[in-house]
Amino acid sequence: MGQLDGLKTVVTGAGGGIGAAIAVAYAEAGAAVTVVDINGAAAEAVAETCRGHGAAADAIQADCGDLAAIDAMLEQAASAMGGIDVIVNNAGVTRHAFILDLTEADWDRMFRVNAKGVFFCMQGAAKRMKAQGSGRIINIASVAGRGYQSSSNAAYAGTKGAVLAMTYLAAHQLGRFNINVNAICPGVTYTEIVSNLLRDRAAERGVTIEQMKQEAEKSIPIRRGNDPEDVAAMAVFLASPGARNITGQGFNVDGGLINS
Ligand SMILES: NC(=O)c1ccc[n+]([C@@H]2O[C@H](COP(=O)([O-])OP(=O)(O)OC[C@H]3O[C@@H](n4cnc5c(N)ncnc54)[C@H](O)[C@@H]3O)[C@@H](O)[C@H]2O)c1
Repeated sequence: MGQLDGLKTVVTGAGGGIGAAIAVAYAEAGAAVTVVDINGAAAEAVAETCRGHGAAADAIQADCGDLAAIDAMLEQAASAMGGIDVIVNNAGVTRHAFILDLTEADWDRMFRVNAKGVFFCMQGAAKRMKAQGSGRIINIASVAGRGYQSSSNAAYAGTKGAVLAMTYLAAHQLGRFNINVNAICPGVTYTEIVSNLLRDRAAERGVTIEQMKQEAEKSIPIRRGNDPEDVAAMAVFLASPGARNITGQGFNVDGGLINS
C-alpha cells in the first residue's frame, strides 16, 4: 500500500528537475500521474519512468504560460484519469541577473509562467476539485519569495512572492470545498536551473563551479543543498491523508536557510 494509492495527480514542469522528482515520488507512492512539460519528449521520458514503478502515467506537452494550453491540458488529464485529486504547480523559469539589468521581456517571461500560469492551473484544477468535493493544490514557490538575498533575480522573487500570496488567498476561499492549498519554498536545489545559475555566477566571479557550490553551502545551516527528492518528499506528504488539515501554508525545504 502506498501513501497516495488511487490518487489522480498532475505535475507541471515535470520533464526535469524538481517536477520530475515529484512525479516519480508520486508514482512510487501509488498515484496515477500526468506528467506535463513544455518539452514533450522530456515529459514522455519521465512518464515512462513512472510506468516503470507500476503507475498509470501519461505525458502531456503543454505551455503552462498559455491559458488555452492550460485548459486543454487539464481537460485531457481529467478525462484520461477520471478526475484530478492533486495538482502540483511546479513549472517555473528564471535567469541570473542584477536588478538594474532586468528587462520588460524578462519580467513578462517570468510572470507569464511563474505567476499567471500557476494561478490559472490552480483555478482550472479547483473548478474540477469543487465538483468532486475534494482536492489538494501544491504550488512550488521559492525562498526567493521570502526575500532570500542570493535569489536569481529580484523580479523572479516577485513571482514567487505572488505564488505565496495566491496560495494563502486560495486556501481561504477554497477551504469550504474541501480543497487544501499549500506552497513549498525550496532553497538551493541541484537541478538544471541551479546548474545554469552556478555556471553564470562562477564565470562572473572568475571561480570554479565547485567553489561556487561550496560557497553557497556555507550559508546553509545544515551545510547541504537539496536534492530534488528532498522537495518531492514534502510534496508527497502534502498530498497524503496525514495532511488533510494543513492548508494555507508555505513550507521551506532549505536546510535552514530562511527562518520565516
Ligand atoms: N532549483 C532550485 O534551486 C529552486 C529553488 C526554489 C524554487 N525552485 C522552483 O522549483 C520549480 C522547478 O525548478 P527546477 O529547478 O526543477 O527547474 P528546471 O529548469 O530544472 O525544470 C523546470 C521544468 O519546467 C519546464 N517548463 C519551463 N517552462 C515551462 C512552461 N511554460 N510550461 C511547462 N513546462 C515548463 C522545463 O521544460 C523543465 O522541465 C520552479 O518553479 C522553480 O522556480 C527551484
